Amino acid sequence: MKLPTLKIVAACLLALSLTSLAKELKTTEPAQAAHGKHGIVASVHPTATEAGINALKRGGNAIDAAVAVALTLGVVDGDNSGIGGGCFMLIHRANGSVVAIDGREMAPAAATRDMFIRDGKGDTELSQVGALASGVPGALAAYDYAVKNYGKKKLKDLLLPAAKIAQDGFKLNASYAGRLKGSARDMKRFQSSRAVFFKSDGQPLGEGDTLKQPDLAATYRHIAEQGSDWFYHGPFGIAVETWMKKNGGIMTAKDLDNYHICLREPITTSYRDYQTITFPPPSSGGVHVTEMLNILEHFNLKSLDEPTRLHVIAETMKLAFADRAYWLGDPDFVKVPHGLVDKKYAAELAAKINLDHTIEVTSHGMPADWQTNVFKKHTTHFSVADAEGNWVACTATVNTSFGSKVVIPGTGVVMNNEMDDFSTQPGVANFFKLVGAEANAVAPGKRPLSSMSPTIILKDGKPILALGAAGGPTIISQVLLSLVNILDLGMPPEMAIAQPRIHHQWSPNELSVEKALAPALKANLEKRGHHLSEKGGIGVTQIVGRDRDGKNFVGVADPRAGGKAAGW
Ligand code: GLY
Repeated sequence: MKLPTLKIVAACLLALSLTSLAKELKTTEPAQAAHGKHGIVASVHPTATEAGINALKRGGNAIDAAVAVALTLGVVDGDNSGIGGGCFMLIHRANGSVVAIDGREMAPAAATRDMFIRDGKGDTELSQVGALASGVPGALAAYDYAVKNYGKKKLKDLLLPAAKIAQDGFKLNASYAGRLKGSARDMKRFQSSRAVFFKSDGQPLGEGDTLKQPDLAATYRHIAEQGSDWFYHGPFGIAVETWMKKNGGIMTAKDLDNYHICLREPITTSYRDYQTITFPPPSSGGVHVTEMLNILEHFNLKSLDEPTRLHVIAETMKLAFADRAYWLGDPDFVKVPHGLVDKKYAAELAAKINLDHTIEVTSHGMPADWQTNVFKKHTTHFSVADAEGNWVACTATVNTSFGSKVVIPGTGVVMNNEMDDFSTQPGVANFFKLVGAEANAVAPGKRPLSSMSPTIILKDGKPILALGAAGGPTIISQVLLSLVNILDLGMPPEMAIAQPRIHHQWSPNELSVEKALAPALKANLEKRGHHLSEKGGIGVTQIVGRDRDGKNFVGVADPRAGGKAAGW
């Protein structure tokens, strides 16, 4: 297939308040696809998608569009992502270079390994709500870096339209109102959060109410005028320290001052006839999407009957997630074996899979050279060139709905609760029921392990897909399933995204399946030994790609959320 001459594509795949965001999949009919000649954007919110398209129309490139989407989501979907959180941004530039910007939160300098342990037990309330729950936010630093180095616009150009939306307000839809209601009990504890999201009668804003965020608008305008220094080296850091001191937190202005993005070396390998580019640690997503694809290469997925195919995929997920629980952490602090994405290691794991029945996976595997061949620490090397033809896959988050539930007074910024992505204590499950090991223990300056999996796929050296998802650990499974549906089964993205999903994360030993999965398939999987757990919707995926005609682009937002894809 030929590539179109104009190649500006932005896939912005933001937001992770996860299962709460995903509605039940009601139909497996193909989702609504958008098409465009000059560019395409897919996000979880129509207003944010529109902001991305506007950035393209006003002469921006895909990087500008992605940042416009991100900053707008921080206003209209701030319960999921925003500048109080973090992100991973994966960019394939027209000159062929690939950039992986790690804007993941960092633990404050005063963080300690046992900071969430009370009376000998890990206390997840502390890692999920309030002053100790937040890592130092990195999203804004990543957006700033991306625009400065690879965009055509100024950060200011992208901030001001979003500031206007924050100032003027927007009407809450049922989904946002539902998430707010679900978080209200915890948010109520914080006066500054009540001031933004609650009415004078003490109730949270509801569907149809207008949410105005003048403080957030002012924050965006300050950053537009003074740059991200306002946030990292100025008034925002002081506001954070002041609030934290009063509320038992440990984050200081110096922590903001010390925040830095990392340029990571992406994981580049192959899957059948395709080249894959995924995000390296501290994302676990890239490692395990790659590990699973490597395992699945040993099966002819297209020729397997559907129950066997799903069984093989579920077993593959289980093997990979057992590795995740043991090996994965911030590569700047622990050794994460490169062997996890080695084809030979995958062959060993694939050989364990029994086509008829589940296998018992009691522990992680042992990739070759695990002590010596490890993922690199971050590097500052980068090459820069001007060109059009950029693909961006970006996933951002404040973690669970409304993050720590804390709004820093006077700023409108919702702080993340990403500290819960550390293993607060070995064996203690986090919000996503994930257990971790020493590799992901809390340490000052360390980045918590993430499942965010922005992914770009190439064919014959040219990008054909940019995708990613929201939904905690299910992100990894969602990306895998989309890739299998598109690359192995030949489905267009709008069909791939509407297939019922499954997810296995090793612990707990259960296979999550969407209700929409055919009853016969569920029964067959149970017969093979899977313990099924039915879910309405599993996560939210966004995909953009090259259209079948090879001339245009196609984009699709997950029908499980109220997102939108739009082309230009
Ligand atoms: N906060 C969820 C993740 O990064 O995986």
